[in-house]
Amino acid sequence: MKSSNFSVNNGHLIINGLDTVELARKYGSPLYIICEDTIRERFREFRSAFSGVKSDIYYAMKANGNLAILKILGSEGAGVDVFSAGELYMALLTGINREKILFNGNSKTDRELKFAISSGVTVSVDSIDELNSLSKLAAELDARASLAFRVNPDISPETHPKISTGIRTSKFGIPHDDVLKVYGMAKELDNIDIKGIHCHIGSQILKLDVFGEAMVKMMDLVELIRDEYDLELEFLDIGGGLGIPYHEDDPAPTPEDLADVILPIFKDKSAKTGISPRLILEPGRYIVADSGVLLCRVNTVKRAHKTFVGTDAGFNLLARPMIYNAYHRILVANRMDQPPAETYTIVGPICESGDILGEDRNLPRIEKGDLLAILDTGAYGFSMSSQYNQRPRCAEVLVSGGHDELIREEEAVGDLIAGQTIPDRLL
Ligand code: LLP
Repeated sequence: MKSSNFSVNNGHLIINGLDTVELARKYGSPLYIICEDTIRERFREFRSAFSGVKSDIYYAMKANGNLAILKILGSEGAGVDVFSAGELYMALLTGINREKILFNGNSKTDRELKFAISSGVTVSVDSIDELNSLSKLAAELDARASLAFRVNPDISPETHPKISTGIRTSKFGIPHDDVLKVYGMAKELDNIDIKGIHCHIGSQILKLDVFGEAMVKMMDLVELIRDEYDLELEFLDIGGGLGIPYHEDDPAPTPEDLADVILPIFKDKSAKTGISPRLILEPGRYIVADSGVLLCRVNTVKRAHKTFVGTDAGFNLLARPMIYNAYHRILVANRMDQPPAETYTIVGPICESGDILGEDRNLPRIEKGDLLAILDTGAYGFSMSSQYNQRPRCAEVLVSGGHDELIREEEAVGDLIAGQTIPDRLL
């Protein structure tokens, strides 16, 4: 969260004018807090960094799919990158302009493809099988399907291997060397409108030179496709991936920095060749990560091999530390005026040893009942949560202009059994 949205009062962490201790009292704990101003500001940074060219910002809603967030971003003019029928349904429900929706995915069902075609959204096609299905299904629906191809550009960003998506060995995209061929195939198929080209090289990228590499490769392909097939692509979608500084000392590249890397290449190639696709960016993390804080309550402080602080949130609510060894800053929200006093390992209540939210953190002296705030959890926090160990998911609250509003109810125990049936013979 932008430091201007944080303050301290009476030793309590204040977010956007609201006391986190009060919020946890009012809504219960654990609790996700999302700051609307931060989301709008981050989106506008992206918007203005690319306003010098024909461009659109498609929010990658997998980062955080709450309807209120989609509404906020829709009101800012965002399009949306969706990755499933469920995401498409939600984007349409919130009134996102369907011309600004790209349906991504490496393994879509026919049902999902039909939904995309009948909704009139563009599909980012990831394989030849998918291309053939799309043409066949569009014919069956007596409709036309708009497509881009997802390119695997063979680029290696410096990031966690599990979120590096544009390297040669990744499951995503059409291999770079086959791209020209698939555009030729698409051209021969019925009911297909070829609209664009797409790539996404990975996530949490802090060294931006790889985006320049991707832009060179993608613009070369746009030119090649035009020259070979006399086909002018309407858009080039360069994906998301801009990282954020989870550690205090991480570099903090901005959308402006990203624009400085890719726009000169984009403009130069456009000027030399006369191709001028609309540029699309698909940020997820950058837009919402630092808008979110996860509040959790301390249940136990145990002095053992280490001093373990057991909280009421674990990798059921924040999976990133467990999956990617990710680092999130942790504050003691009710002791903000106290100096670090001890080294703590913050753990959740889940029945796995890997359920660690933060290791060896120097924090003020912690006691049972204290409230912790885990920062930068607006992206890939709630959206990757689960009911593991049969724990209902927590509530989400939106803070804006000094007001707090519930945007997702805490799940009830009944939600744990929703949809299940016990066969009669077992009763
Ligand atoms: N576009 C496509 C096609 C994507 O697959 C993704 C993310 C994005 C855009 C947005 O990327 P971003 O701007 O958020 O980096 N769960 C992981 C991140 C997975 C990202 C998957 N794809 C994490 O918690 O770090």
